[in-house]
Amino acid sequence: MKASYCRLTFFLVTSSFFLKDAHMVSVVDPTYGFVEVMLNESNFEYQKPYDTPLDQRYECKDGTHRFWVYADDKPFSLGSNTQPRTEIRILPNYTSGVWQFEGLAFIPNGTSGATIVQIHGAAHGNTTALLRIYKGEMRYYSTQVIDTDLYDRWFKVNLIHDVDEGKVIVFLDNKEKFKIHDQGPGLLYFKFGVYGAPANISYYMESRWKDVKIYKKF
Ligand SMILES: *[C@@H]1O[C@H](CO)[C@@H](O)[C@H](O)[C@H]1NC(C)=O
Ligand SMILES: *[C@@H]1O[C@H](CO)[C@@H](O)[C@H](O)[C@H]1NC(C)=O
Ligand SMILES: *[C@@H]1O[C@H](CO)[C@@H](O)[C@H](O)[C@H]1NC(C)=O
Ligand SMILES: *[C@@H]1O[C@H](CO)[C@@H](O)[C@H](O)[C@H]1NC(C)=O
Ligand SMILES: *[C@@H]1O[C@H](CO)[C@@H](O)[C@H](O)[C@H]1NC(C)=O
Repeated sequence: MKASYCRLTFFLVTSSFFLKDAHMVSVVDPTYGFVEVMLNESNFEYQKPYDTPLDQRYECKDGTHRFWVYADDKPFSLGSNTQPRTEIRILPNYTSGVWQFEGLAFIPNGTSGATIVQIHGAAHGNTTALLRIYKGEMRYYSTQVIDTDLYDRWFKVNLIHDVDEGKVIVFLDNKEKFKIHDQGPGLLYFKFGVYGAPANISYYMESRWKDVKIYKKF
């Protein structure tokens, strides 16, 4: 069964740099200076355990994507040695420039060791950045802690990849939380959903997403 398409916005957005309700100078609109890339269903490629129908690991309701996976699920393709996942890969691929993923995320308490958003592709290794939830904390891969206390509430994720400068920046709720060098250019694309980490994963993993958008700097 084909999943119904989650609502997307089809407007060009001009943002103001400082948010109207900002009470701190560090709270900014991360999309300032970017232009939204129009997406439709053809930009989404669904990945889920290869032996399981999509509607048993994904649903879209009232504009909210819900992804879930179990630790003993199969990988996304037969013969792959990767951990189980239910994810949406967003096209287009990109190879240069400055790109940004934005979305509102909700992680239910209990989901742990789950990548919820990633930049796939790099010159060195397979990925540029993985943002994972471990016990309510967000980590860059399994190491640096980006934020804590993220369970059971909606939070806004903005992930900027400046390929030309080789930089990745993470904003949570409009605050810059983390900045790191990327892993070199490549065939790059954003993914969101749930993807099991190599270790320390909960049996059940779930993420919910809404208002997912892609922006680019021109
Ligand atoms: C969806 O987007 C693709 C690529 O941008 C475009 O070619 C296609 O016409 C769009 N389809 C609809 C229904 O808007
Ligand atoms: C994106 O890259 C994949 C290879 O990973 C390729 O098959 C596909 O045609 C590319 N799509 C676009 C829209 O660039
Ligand atoms: C998550 O669930 C555990 C176990 O039920 C509980 O101890 C903990 O306080 C919960 N955390 C949050 C942030 O609700
Ligand atoms: C990169 O992906 C390939 C194919 O899925 C896999 O065989 C390889 O182990 C991965 N490399 C790393 C460093 O994860
Ligand atoms: C993973 O589990 C091991 C052993 O229980 C622990 O030492 C390590 O800190 C955990 N790592 C993370 C990222 O939670």
